[in-house]
Amino acid sequence: MVRVGIIGCGNIARSAHIPAYMARHDVTCSHFCDIRPERAQDMVARYGTGKATVAYREVLADPEVDAVSICTPNHLHAAIAIEAMRAGKDVLCEKPAARTLDEVLAMRRTRRETGRVLNIGVVNRFNGAVRKIRDLIAENALGQVYHVYVSFRARRSIPGLGGDFTNRSVAGGGVLIDWGVHFLDLVMFCCGDPMPVTVSGKAYCMLGRNIGEYVYNSMWAGPPDPAGVCDVEDCISGFIRTEGPTVSLNGAWAQNIGTDEMFVDFLGDRAGIRLQYGKGFTLYGARDGRLFDDSSIHYGNPPMFDEEIEDFVHSIRTRSKSVADLDTVLRSAAIIQALYDSSDRGQEVRFEEYDAL
Ligand SMILES: NC(=O)c1ccc[n+]([C@@H]2O[C@H](COP(=O)([O-])OP(=O)(O)OC[C@H]3O[C@@H](n4cnc5c(N)ncnc54)[C@H](O)[C@@H]3O)[C@@H](O)[C@H]2O)c1
Repeated sequence: MVRVGIIGCGNIARSAHIPAYMARHDVTCSHFCDIRPERAQDMVARYGTGKATVAYREVLADPEVDAVSICTPNHLHAAIAIEAMRAGKDVLCEKPAARTLDEVLAMRRTRRETGRVLNIGVVNRFNGAVRKIRDLIAENALGQVYHVYVSFRARRSIPGLGGDFTNRSVAGGGVLIDWGVHFLDLVMFCCGDPMPVTVSGKAYCMLGRNIGEYVYNSMWAGPPDPAGVCDVEDCISGFIRTEGPTVSLNGAWAQNIGTDEMFVDFLGDRAGIRLQYGKGFTLYGARDGRLFDDSSIHYGNPPMFDEEIEDFVHSIRTRSKSVADLDTVLRSAAIIQALYDSSDRGQEVRFEEYDAL
């Protein structure tokens, strides 16, 4: 039995981590921890197992605990992961790995010192469509992939305006670090982690900046807090030149558009793929003098959070490096940092600045 402590019993813990652990016969959730005691107690009552606590250090101090899932807001990811590894625990930490590249590098140092497992919740790496696209690109089915166009734009989807998600000191950033991190990670994964050369970005805080004036139909992680803070970007535009394809990022939690546009176009000289985020994909090209669209390419698609947890348990048991290991997200963490730095400085930055990686 692997004994896991859940730290943070909010949305992602309740909807993904905990059910995936509880469905297994080789894992037990020994602790449910949340500073809101009713959330932890609710999990104990629902699953009839484990201990509820408000103090994550209590979980880390228990010698019987093998591993933790960190499902707290972003500002606690690095601090709890580092303490957990020092306490001898293996760690699965939700995305983003941390708020800044410096925090990510501190996590890496502790991982090296302690030899613990440190996986990040880059769940798209366990998505069947994403894995198939990675294989198709590796088999050269698209020819030369020269550009990747990424759109993660919603009409009105700022989460909990004024709360943790829109407060830079808690979240580290806005839509880029919250949604963009998933898109960038899957692009890097599918394209073989190409080395960036230059990064240019511009972050905007537009529709959410006056909290009381924001008009919306529904709000996840809400309701809004009119007395709270919104000092993160609700819109980001970025351009990344790599040694492989160029990548343009177009993201927004809220824009004055008609419908949400959540997709990635992998553009090759032989064929192109549009991945509808979280769904399937279509291959586009020309054959025998005719254009074709192919949405029938087969791939397996087991539930990706179950796969992520399966992979974590496998890492714990075998001490082997996972496809979700912290090292595999370093380059995208550095790109995110470079996009924010570029926006702050008002100019393109060279990636060699970040290449102590
Ligand atoms: N992989 C994904 O697709 C995905 C989806 C949603 C959220 N996330 C990530 O998961 C994390 C949590 O997001 P969420 O939507 O579940 O947020 P949430 O606010 O619903 O849950 C966070 C929980 O952490 C608790 N918490 C805060 N400080 C704590 C502390 N010191 N000790 C213990 N618990 C503490 C809060 O009380 C809350 O219940 C974020 O980093 C987010 O980016 C990932």
